[in-house]
Amino acid sequence: MKLSIKDLNLKDKRVFVRVDFNVPIKDGKVEDDTRIRAALPTIQYAISEGGRVILASHLGRPKGERVEKYSLRPVAEHLSELLGKPVAFAEDCVGEEARSKVEAMSDGDVLLLENLRFHSEEEKNDDEFARRLASLCDVYVNDAFGTAHRAHASTAGITKYVKQAVAGLLMEKELEYLGRVIHNPKHPFIAILGGAKVSDKLPVINALIERKVDKLLIGGAMAYTFFKAEGFTVGKSLVENDKLEAARAIRRRAEDAGVELLLPTDHQVVDSYEPIKGQEPVSKTIPIEFTNLGHVGLDIGPETVAIFSKALEGAKTIIWNGPMGVFEEKPFDQGTIGIARAVADAADKGATVIVGGGDSVSAIHQAGVADRITHISTGGGATLEFLAGDELPGVAALNDKN
Ligand code: 3PG
Repeated sequence: MKLSIKDLNLKDKRVFVRVDFNVPIKDGKVEDDTRIRAALPTIQYAISEGGRVILASHLGRPKGERVEKYSLRPVAEHLSELLGKPVAFAEDCVGEEARSKVEAMSDGDVLLLENLRFHSEEEKNDDEFARRLASLCDVYVNDAFGTAHRAHASTAGITKYVKQAVAGLLMEKELEYLGRVIHNPKHPFIAILGGAKVSDKLPVINALIERKVDKLLIGGAMAYTFFKAEGFTVGKSLVENDKLEAARAIRRRAEDAGVELLLPTDHQVVDSYEPIKGQEPVSKTIPIEFTNLGHVGLDIGPETVAIFSKALEGAKTIIWNGPMGVFEEKPFDQGTIGIARAVADAADKGATVIVGGGDSVSAIHQAGVADRITHISTGGGATLEFLAGDELPGVAALNDKN
């Protein structure tokens, strides 16, 4: 167990909270504030305990340079609205401006520092940079579960230079829910995985088979690698040709372990795929085995949604990560939305349902079922690495209880 923010006295303390505010921004406005809202309990707790709350995050991948579109300033404005109080903003996360803004803080104040990744030292986990960040605070809290798989200066290095490094409330919640799935899942335990690439999901698939998941439901473009590996025609659908053997190995391993592996039976295809802005591609639903050389598969079909939904009946634990199709383009969002409804129904019937990954979480919101889901994880890569059994550097670096 890691030390928690609740174990500390925050009064009069400069509390550095590493958050994951890596959120989509469009035209200077926050487009999806799920991750910001998820950090509110920790921020509000620190405020109510009389801490001086210094928030730090990355946004995007600006590669060590100041890139205006990756500025966190719009997030400060948005956070201020959510908190109903001013949120100060420092144009840099280290240096004189950050220091003077921190010095000007009173108990209960909130300050957001500019994007950590405007400095290349952040991703290099540079010692001196970590020390400079640490010099801004008395206490370090990591609430950035979504970034805990990165060993960066603000998630790992900094902990060497602070007296106490503890988990925030969101971090604790994520570790509790996901930890239960790993260590003590109630059966039947079903995993739904989607997304473009098998390669991204290989470690998690293997770990799930090892942990005796009862059923593995695979959708998204990664299913085509499985189909091609079995000799099916997949047309021009996305395939990882160097992962055909890996797909066959997964099938064998699943069979040996008694894990039921379900793949789509039908899909939405287009004859040629040239995305034209503002125009819906003409698509049709066909059984997988009717795919011809020209077809491009872009989503699972309604029969697959029905079969996957039926497979979830009676489940006690469900984890879902990854879209079933090209979710960002209508009408190829329907398979993913269908699965969002199905997991919500399963949750209503008593299953613990955990959903992670940007598109799956968006589908949950679009389907209007977010309040029926047991836990919506803020992690993408972090959730997958955690479920694959890896120790996350951002968690490992925190102080243990006792
Ligand atoms: C995420 O969105 O998964 C996290 O914020 C980590 O971002 P990164 O993949 O750019 O490190």
